[in-house]
Amino acid sequence: MKNLAILGSTGSIGCSALEVVRTLAPHFRVVALAAGRNVQLFCRQVEEFKPELVALEREDDAREFRRLCSIPDLKVAFGQEGAEEVARYSSVDTVISAITGIKGLRPTLAAVEAGKKVALANKESMVVAGELIQQAVREHHAKIIPIDSEHSAVFQCMSKEAPEDIKKVILTASGGPFFRLSSEEMETKTPEEALNHPRWQMGKKVTIDSATMMNKGLELIEAKWLFGLQPEQLGVLVHPQSIVHSLVEMRDGSVLAQLSQTDMKIPIQYALTHPERRDSSLPPLDLSRVQSLEFYEVEEHKFPLLELAVQALDEKQAFSVALNAANELAVEAFLGKKIKFSDIHVVVAEALETQDGRMIHSMEDIFEVDLAARERARNLLTQRT
Ligand SMILES: NC(=O)c1ccc[n+]([C@@H]2O[C@H](COP(=O)([O-])OP(=O)(O)OC[C@H]3O[C@@H](n4cnc5c(N)ncnc54)[C@H](OP(=O)(O)O)[C@@H]3O)[C@@H](O)[C@H]2O)c1
Repeated sequence: MKNLAILGSTGSIGCSALEVVRTLAPHFRVVALAAGRNVQLFCRQVEEFKPELVALEREDDAREFRRLCSIPDLKVAFGQEGAEEVARYSSVDTVISAITGIKGLRPTLAAVEAGKKVALANKESMVVAGELIQQAVREHHAKIIPIDSEHSAVFQCMSKEAPEDIKKVILTASGGPFFRLSSEEMETKTPEEALNHPRWQMGKKVTIDSATMMNKGLELIEAKWLFGLQPEQLGVLVHPQSIVHSLVEMRDGSVLAQLSQTDMKIPIQYALTHPERRDSSLPPLDLSRVQSLEFYEVEEHKFPLLELAVQALDEKQAFSVALNAANELAVEAFLGKKIKFSDIHVVVAEALETQDGRMIHSMEDIFEVDLAARERARNLLTQRT
């Protein structure tokens, strides 16, 4: 029996993770949960899974939760500290890190510093703090198993290979809803159209990132830190069927791939059961019914945010921090219908122009760079709205 904590249990990954736990019962038990503002759903989850500790983002929501959900002996926390408490809860073996954005960084680091096994979905924490997190993993004997389907694929393909035999890692991308459109056609796409992803059901932020292909950019940076790769060892191919989740090219010319149904429950389950495997609740992948597997080069000029993320692979860490911060704000403004789809990359690019390229030595440095970039992006957004 393994004890689990889930950070972001009410989100897309969090809900899929709980479905996986239902399948894997009685081998996994949920002992701690953290969520943001969806008190009603959180209450239903708590009633079903009966954790010992829970946390919500805000104090007033924690109060409302207590009113709705009176479970004896349940400890209810709130705020950043509450999520961190969930992440380091003593009886927890594995922490699923699935809060969106940089808000997931401190709880993810808390789990690593507590020496937990971290099943990582929150790619933004690796993007902004990859080096510091990997240092902490070594220091505290923690372990990170990726949940992102591409990184799970790479992790599985690389697991038995010597690092020096790996030539290149190619992340596959669905291409999002606008892959076949011209830049002009994309310009005026609405949030509703951008949220209509052809393959994956995901949270709003990651779905918009998928439409701009910033998601693939963030994943390249994540892969650099997760697997210790050089920028020239990383590439992207568009694969609209989303069956091949990534490719690893070996020095002898072999290319390894991991294929599965397009369902996040598969990489989530793998992260939980690793190094073992267990039966899945999903039907097997029937390749005879998949008519074709296509692969295309990305037309990078159509996806300027992906170009910026590729640039970030060679830049100092502060560049990635500022890129992520400006993108989080621009996506929020687009979802709030304050800017056009094509303004997302303009705001991010302009916010990066005055980025000072300082060195990152600590979490405090990261949050300083993040704040400054948010301030620049906010000013640019105000000028546009
Ligand atoms: N969805 C996917 O298929 C997918 C695939 C690969 C990687 N990822 C990555 O996984 C992460 C989560 O994505 P998602 O699609 O699951 O996002 P999502 O559906 O928006 O869910 C985000 C979760 O974080 C919670 N949250 C937000 N602020 C919080 C806070 N301050 N404290 C505690 N919880 C907080 C939300 O709570 P409330 O809803 O209660 O406010 C929700 O449970 C992202 O980094 C994303 O890039 C997602």
